[in-house]
Amino acid sequence: MKSQPVLVTGATGATGGYTIDALTKLDVSIRAMVRKDDDRAARLRSSGVEVVFGDLLNLDSVRSAMEDIGAAYFVYPLVPGLINATAYFAQAAQEAGLNGIVNMSQISARRDSKSHQARDHWISERVFDWSCVPVTHLRPTFFAQWLTYPRVRQDIAQKGLISLPFGNARHAPIAAEDQARVIAAILTNPVPHSGKTYKLFGPVEMDQYGIAKAVSDVLGREVIYEPIGIADFRHQLEQFGLPEQTIQHLCAVALDFQEGLFAGTNDAIETITGKVPMTVQSFVKAHKAEFND
Ligand SMILES: NC(=O)c1ccc[n+]([C@@H]2O[C@H](COP(=O)([O-])OP(=O)(O)OC[C@H]3O[C@@H](n4cnc5c(N)ncnc54)[C@H](OP(=O)(O)O)[C@@H]3O)[C@@H](O)[C@H]2O)c1
Repeated sequence: MKSQPVLVTGATGATGGYTIDALTKLDVSIRAMVRKDDDRAARLRSSGVEVVFGDLLNLDSVRSAMEDIGAAYFVYPLVPGLINATAYFAQAAQEAGLNGIVNMSQISARRDSKSHQARDHWISERVFDWSCVPVTHLRPTFFAQWLTYPRVRQDIAQKGLISLPFGNARHAPIAAEDQARVIAAILTNPVPHSGKTYKLFGPVEMDQYGIAKAVSDVLGREVIYEPIGIADFRHQLEQFGLPEQTIQHLCAVALDFQEGLFAGTNDAIETITGKVPMTVQSFVKAHKAEFND
């Protein structure tokens, strides 16, 4: 007999989507919370996942998505509303008697962060702690998925260029696919991880010059890194029409990044899942088609 289903929010996003894939391999009953009944919801349903509709900013919809659930993954995008969404999620989880929450935070979460969103991630961790629902906080460094975000991906595909405000600082990019295996492992066995905070890293620390070289090697064509200033980065983000809180966050963490806050590596992914995380080379290989236009 299968145990209680697990709830995955952000099921149409990066970490949530890969978490569904990882849970499917573990033969677990999955309930995915999505916002719209679109083709992505239909694809989830056709793969055997129970789909419910809900909005993290609507307490009643979150509460009803949690009915008869064991553990749940909480992820909120880089837009305003994180603390609101956290408080609703924690209250609903308490009412529903959940036995575990996996909370997607970030490595730069801290009380005195210059980024409002990173400070709110820190507050969000504390709100979950006060709720007394068993919770595990994840604090990843920058995702390997940065390479596939629209402007970065387009620059690589069309100009053979990575232009970011990261100076020559280093980090070990972590793929959403690998984080998803951690999330799935915790959701299916929350007790040993409850009360813990895990920093998540890829296997190899690199600067952006090294990342550009790795991308070049896999794609078989030259890709170079040209550092830009944070003011130029802000200007580019404004052209994309992102919310000011998102832009403020990305500029503040770019400075954190230059100052080494995103550096480091560890064996958390391998210890929790038994498998080492992807290198940048294996990530680019797996996503090669995305760099073709
Ligand atoms: N990228 C990085 O390098 C990095 C590093 C460390 C931590 N993080 C953290 O990772 C998180 C983002 O994770 P991700 O990349 O997996 O997310 P993502 O790909 O941006 O996906 C966000 C998901 O949330 C859903 N969503 C948005 N607003 C919602 C709402 N009001 N109610 C319910 N669902 C909603 C989206 O649905 P739709 O598809 O319908 O919009 C989508 O499924 C952020 O908290 C960020 O701080 C990111």
